Formats: sequence, C-alpha cells, structure tokens
Amino acid sequence: MFGRVKPLDAILATAEKKSLHRSLGPVQLTLLGVGAIIGTGIFVLTAAAAQKAGPGMMWSFIIAGSVCAVAALCYSELASMVPVSGSAYTYTYAVVGELLAWMVGWALILEYAVAASAVSVGWSGYFMGLLKSLTGFELPAALSAGPAWSLSGVDFSHGIINVPAIFVALAVTLLLMIGTKESATVNAVLVAIKVAALTMFVILTLPLLKGQHFAPFTPNGWFGPAGTTGLGVVGAAASIFFAYVGFDAVSTAAEETKNPQRNVPIGLIGSLAICTVFYLLVAAGAIGAVGAQPTALGVQPGTPEFMAQCSALTAQGQEPLVCSKEALAHVLRAVNYTWAGDLIGLAANLALPSVILMMLFGQTRIFFVMARDGLLPEKLATVHPKWKTPHIVTLITGFFVAIAAALLPVGQLADISNSGTLFAFLMVSIAVLVLRVRDPNRARPFRTPLVWLIAPVSIVGCLLLFFNLPIEAMLVLPIWGAIGLVFYYGYGYRKSYVGRGIIDVHEDDAGVPPQPVPPMPGAHTPGGVDA
Ligand code: ALA
Repeated sequence: MFGRVKPLDAILATAEKKSLHRSLGPVQLTLLGVGAIIGTGIFVLTAAAAQKAGPGMMWSFIIAGSVCAVAALCYSELASMVPVSGSAYTYTYAVVGELLAWMVGWALILEYAVAASAVSVGWSGYFMGLLKSLTGFELPAALSAGPAWSLSGVDFSHGIINVPAIFVALAVTLLLMIGTKESATVNAVLVAIKVAALTMFVILTLPLLKGQHFAPFTPNGWFGPAGTTGLGVVGAAASIFFAYVGFDAVSTAAEETKNPQRNVPIGLIGSLAICTVFYLLVAAGAIGAVGAQPTALGVQPGTPEFMAQCSALTAQGQEPLVCSKEALAHVLRAVNYTWAGDLIGLAANLALPSVILMMLFGQTRIFFVMARDGLLPEKLATVHPKWKTPHIVTLITGFFVAIAAALLPVGQLADISNSGTLFAFLMVSIAVLVLRVRDPNRARPFRTPLVWLIAPVSIVGCLLLFFNLPIEAMLVLPIWGAIGLVFYYGYGYRKSYVGRGIIDVHEDDAGVPPQPVPPMPGAHTPGGVDA
C-alpha cells in the first residue's frame, strides 16, 4: 500500500501529453497568488486574532507568514520538479505513496471546501454591515449567523442560519457550473481593489496609532492561559494562518504556467511577501487606532461564552473590535471614517466572491485529479455537454460548502480549514526530504535553499500551529481522516489505476480515458475543459 507510488516519470509524461495551455507568466502568477490569498483572513479574522492574542497578533502574523514561507520554499521545489495539477496530493503520490496521497487529497477537501465556506461567512458579515450602514436595514440575528459551537454544546441564541452566506456560496457555485471563469483581467482588477482597500486602511489608521493600545502586548501570553488550547500569540498564529492560505493555488497552476521552473517559485514567494507586508501594516493600524479590546481573557472566539459576552457589551452600547464581523470596516467607522468603512465593505463584497470561486475551483480540480487516478468515481467528473464544466462535482461541493457556511462561525471554519492545510503542508515538507534522498539526481529547476534546515523548520512549524488550534478544530482532522480511510478502502484501493497497474492513464490504449482537468480561473484556456 505504501509501495503504491506513482512514478514521477509517468506523472511528468502525463503532463506532457495532456498538459493544459501554458499561458501564465510570473506577474500573472503572483497576481493569481495575491488574488487567492487576501480575503476573509485579513478582512475578518483580524478580530478573532485580536481576541486571542491582543496586540501580540502582530507576532502571530509573522509566525504564520514564516511557516508559510518555509512551506512555500518546499512547495516550490516540488512544484518546479512536478509541474502538474493536483498540488500536495500529486507530490505525495509521487513520493510517499497512494495511501498518504489519498489522505492528503482528503485533507485538501478541508482546506479548499471549508475555506470556501469560511470566506462565504466572511462575505456575509461585510454584506450585512454595508447594508446596515447604507440603508439601516438589518436581518434578524437568527438569519444572519449560524449558531455558536463548542465541545460543550451548541447555542442557538445568537444565530441559527446564515442566509447571506448560503446565498453567496450557491451563487458562486452556479457561476462555476455554467462555466464562468474569472478572466485574468477580472482577477487583476479584483486584486487591485483589495490592495487599494488595504492601502487606504493603512493610510487612514497609521496616523491614529496610540502607544497605549499596544500594552499589554501579549495579554494571553504566547500559548494562552493554562488549560486552554488555541489562545495566545501562537494560537492566534494558528488561526491567522488562514489569511495566507491560497498561495498554493499558484503551485496548482503549474501546469498552466510558462516556464514553471522559474515562474512558480517567483509567484509563490512574491505573493506571500506582498501579503505579509500588508498584513503587518493592517494589524498595526487596527490595533493602534482602536485597541484590541478583548472580552474576558482566555475566551475562545466563536464559542457560546464569547458570543454571550459580546451580546452583553453590545447591549451596553459598546462594540469592541474583537466582536466585529467586519473588523476593518468596524475600525474605520469607529474612528469616524464612515465613508471609508463603507468603501472597505464594498471592496470586501466585490472581492471575496473571487476567493470563494478560487477555493471552490481548487476543490473541483483536486477531485478531478483524484478521479483521473481512479481514486474517485469518474462519474463525479462528468462534463456537462453544453456548459463544458464538471457540473456534478461542482454542485455537490457547492451544496456542502453552503451547508457549512450556514451553520458555523467564520473563525471555526477557518480553524478547521487550517487543520487540513497544515497536514498537507507537513506532507509536502516531508516529501521534499524523501525525494532528496531517494532521487538525488533528478533535475530540480528550483532547489529549496538549505533544505535540511528549511524543511524540518517547516515540519516543526506546521506541527506547532496544528497543536495550537482550538481543540475542536484539532479533532476534526483525525475524524475526517477516519472517514477518508473508509472511503479509500471501500473504493479507491480497488479502483486505483496505479493499484491496477494502469499507470499512464492517458495512453490511447489505456481503456476509458478519464476527464482532463479544467483550467484555473485566471488562465486563458477557452471553454470549460481543455480537451
Ligand atoms: N487566505 C484566504 C482568505 O483569507 C483564504 O480568505
């Protein structure tokens, strides 16, 4: 089972034969990365990070960004060696074998699909905020937020179902089903909107910075009060890690990139660097202008206890940053830049759906590649005759994304997504080392510098962040993994092309050729599927 490794040469030959149109250059790729990265994390989760770490969340951004940077360096080596679709799943298949590849692919469902839910909830918060600011209209809380969850129970008193989040998740699903793709131009415009919004935020808030808002700098310490998980500077880093998720969309686009050997690493590291600088400035601006104002220390955001404290504060006419569902707009309105708060809200409303689109698309792409390897039923990847899109898998994914968005708070969705992502990054970091030992002479157009330092640091970093997630999010990964194992042994184990000895499934004589992978949003390939 561990021996079921998909030979690298076969993967590369597959890519040669069926490669997608190579149209992306380094600038487009960096824009694609920034487009996928900036989203709910900075626009919304800044509030949760402030609750967990106070001003110390600035360290959290640096820690999370550093873990992503070392993971990105590992990603880059594999992405440049194996410039094919499927990201961490494909790399693991080539290096560690089918079972773990399946587990990584399964964990990537958490990353992409749950991230799409999280961003949908983030959009909902900004949408409701903008609507209220412009028209005074407010949906009842029961219809604009899901319930609050913790291991000790579910509390429906602050929300039941998040209708706007369902709406945006299903709308984006529909667009993807009928074959809407973000053109490179639309992506560039949306990236410009996001960057302009964050720049405006920084310019307006930095002059208002007050030294006293930064003290105490780490009210919850580095690891949170004793007996808690997921709090303190490192706990906030584990959550805010979500703000960087998406940079691997760049490596996923390797198959559509001109000279991937050079451009993929540029796109990955370039987009990560740009975002880190922005995030630090935004965090400093938000905290410096209004202060973190945590509710009781040691309370996990999104839990019933936290919601009760926020409701009590709202009843007293206060709305601290940590309770806001639209953190950046909230900060600007709190310092009397209402117009700017509305503009930020507008920017978030325009730009976040493209992050949802990217995440949902990434998800269908992972399903496609897994179906191409026989690990999932090919029926799932059936292409609609007119729309030329994998409508079935898109609809199923969108349905579950909408359900999760309807019922869970944004921070908890982000934490669950992070647990899957951290697992995938961990595997990639291991895979790089395994491959250096097992296949030292293979050409590596991009070599991870100081790999024996960088990859172990990445491994330790992923483990550190994972074990500082809230306990609920930590538990999701093994439970999800167990469900995945049932699916694998029930289906993929028997049907796998590698397992059945059909390795190069794209040979003309290999029986029914599975569906090729549709192009990334932002790529130019016409039609839904590159036949
Ligand atoms: N990094 C993306 C976001 O923050 C997923 O929305």
